[in-house]
Amino acid sequence: MRNSIHQKFVSLFGTSGEQYASAGRINLIGEHTDYNGGFVFPGAIDKGIVVEIKPNGTSMVRVFALDRDSFATFDPNFEDIPDKGWVRYVFGVCREFIKRGGRVEGFDAVFAGDVPLGAGLSSSAALEGAFAFAINDLFGSGFDGATLARIGQSTEHNYCGVNCGIMDQFASIHGKKDHLMLLNCSTLEYKYFPFHAEGFRLVLVNTGVEHELASSAYNRRRQSCETAVAAIQKNHPEVKTLSDAKRIWLEEVREDICAEDFLRAQYVIGEMQRVLDVCDALLREDFETVGEMMYQTHFGLSRQYGVSCPELDFLNHLARKMDVTGSRMMGGGFGGCTINLVRDELYDSFVAAAKEKFAAEFGHEPQIYDVVISDGARKL
Ligand code: GLA
Repeated sequence: MRNSIHQKFVSLFGTSGEQYASAGRINLIGEHTDYNGGFVFPGAIDKGIVVEIKPNGTSMVRVFALDRDSFATFDPNFEDIPDKGWVRYVFGVCREFIKRGGRVEGFDAVFAGDVPLGAGLSSSAALEGAFAFAINDLFGSGFDGATLARIGQSTEHNYCGVNCGIMDQFASIHGKKDHLMLLNCSTLEYKYFPFHAEGFRLVLVNTGVEHELASSAYNRRRQSCETAVAAIQKNHPEVKTLSDAKRIWLEEVREDICAEDFLRAQYVIGEMQRVLDVCDALLREDFETVGEMMYQTHFGLSRQYGVSCPELDFLNHLARKMDVTGSRMMGGGFGGCTINLVRDELYDSFVAAAKEKFAAEFGHEPQIYDVVISDGARKL
């Protein structure tokens, strides 16, 4: 991939640039907790975006998306939002730098990636992360990693229509080989955890399902949480996000909000506790508890939060039937992957069964990816 990016860069711009990369992410547990001020437990993976980039001495950005064979040019100094979806990510990152007082001059860039699209592995965070890291380095804004992650998140909010939390962009930037990170999304404090599950493998099974309305459904989930917080605040004004709320405080307002919003908030409060329980279990190397928490998360995401789909539920059910240690849908939902904690000796039979039974039910084989926890944003 690096080579073909370089060749294209030379043929388009007649010179060479510097290469930078950022990564997609997995999340062991802590789903839909980030925008509620809770904990998440992600890590960067060995699939990401690579960009070759060089200042061009003008005010214009010229950028080529190799995978789409698509070229775009814009002036980052003007709020003239591009039509093409992929360009908005690059444009958004530039604009968010400028809004924060960062430096962005004209540049030429070619990028490509190997994060499967629509798999819930945050290809968009990898794209934002690669450009944010590169622009910061090239033009010397000197922003820290948390600010670069915020730049990616604001790009999603302001240019791509997704009111996402901070997890994906933070993990993409801060990822560290062989480590997951426990991130407090209220304070952005984080701690790396070495992840060596001796005797186990983390496996992703991709349903290949991509829900067209996923971003509006995602934004509605966020609204439900905000509605619950607003109700709780009437009794407990100090509550800013669901992470400040006690279970019993949600119970007090059960009659004041609709059943759907109540269930969603109940899921989030339960999930925040599960992240901490998984941390404790990992320290004890108690993978049975880690796995059980993953199943509980799936149940909550499917039955309470309402972000699963038949294909994800099918894979989760299959994992449970086969005695896989842990399994759950991962990411925003409505498609994408399940993440599975599988004992070594069960790996082959689980993968074979997932392919065969899923294909028999839904007419196509799911893709399987072994998780390799890797570094996040970096200069190559
Ligand atoms: C998407 C969002 C994240 C997070 C997850 C759900 O990946 O981008 O911010 O909310 O969904 O945990």
